Amino acid sequence: MEEKKVLFSAIQPSGILTIGNYLGALKNFRRLQSDYRSIFSLADLHTLTVRQDPAVLKKNTYELAALYLACGINPEESVLFAQSHVSAHAELTWILNTVCYPGELSRMTQFKDKSAKHEDNINMGLMDYPVLMAADILLYQTELVPIGADQKQHLELARDLAERFNNRFGETFKIPEGYIGKSAARVMSLAEPERKMSKSDANLNAFISMNDDTDTIMRKFKRAVTDSGDKIIASADKPGITNLLTIYCAFTDKPLSEAEKEFDGKGYGEFKTAVGEAVAAVVDPIRCEKNRILADKEYIDGVLKDGAERAERLAYKTLAKVYKKVGLLPRRRG
Ligand code: TRP
Repeated sequence: MEEKKVLFSAIQPSGILTIGNYLGALKNFRRLQSDYRSIFSLADLHTLTVRQDPAVLKKNTYELAALYLACGINPEESVLFAQSHVSAHAELTWILNTVCYPGELSRMTQFKDKSAKHEDNINMGLMDYPVLMAADILLYQTELVPIGADQKQHLELARDLAERFNNRFGETFKIPEGYIGKSAARVMSLAEPERKMSKSDANLNAFISMNDDTDTIMRKFKRAVTDSGDKIIASADKPGITNLLTIYCAFTDKPLSEAEKEFDGKGYGEFKTAVGEAVAAVVDPIRCEKNRILADKEYIDGVLKDGAERAERLAYKTLAKVYKKVGLLPRRRG
């Protein structure tokens, strides 16, 4: 039997996730996990690049671990671990830093955006963020990396660094491919459908979080901005209705044409209720399951412990190869 290819992806434990994050990441992870040797990480070291309250970070990390599990990541089949538990991530970052140039990092779109947003804390970690992400990916000889569209530039850098290292020191890393799932089709704000849905929106009605209960979801969709006219079709001059249709299709796995037919002749009110119900039917059971898992910290600790051990074995194989290639002395033991 042919060995399965390696899939690696990670999410930052930086707070509640929106349905956009769910569609762009977790939904794909569950679908892809058994076709690959899947490795999923809680990118806690990345999260430290913007100021965190330590107690909140800890809570968010448990929340995210529980959410991965509630979304169907099977910890026996896949590897689920916290990035900080496997020190090879930080170690490979150091080596990759020596083949990466500051100009490559200072022109990253996300670095520029985050620097503008966190003017009082433009730290070295924020700039080095993509190198840590490259280390995450390259440590596991990853072939497929499911990412959101906003991470494309970072994946490109991971590929560049891998190629550069391979050229300089000989074949060491596999060159990873990105995977941007079709349901990562951008989910827009419910209040301003020209803008991306964001969990940091000051208007809580603009986004649906994975922590929203059915009543909240229904209420938010009822308030969602629609467009003039009364047709329920996707088109450039109807950003509100288009967004609601996109969400409906992503949550029901129906093609757009079918959804348009289904709502032909129906009113906006009825349509918004149907979208709310479709979303709640997926999100509510996930939220309940997440809370159930969250109540058992010992179980989560056990999953992460096992995950870290399995990840570490794989990671250190690559790290040892890298250290040898660059000419570091092998450490003698015993
Ligand atoms: N930077 C990614 C994000 O915010 C998270 C991440 C960290 C990641 N390391 C990764 C994604 C490695 C894919 C592969 O979305």
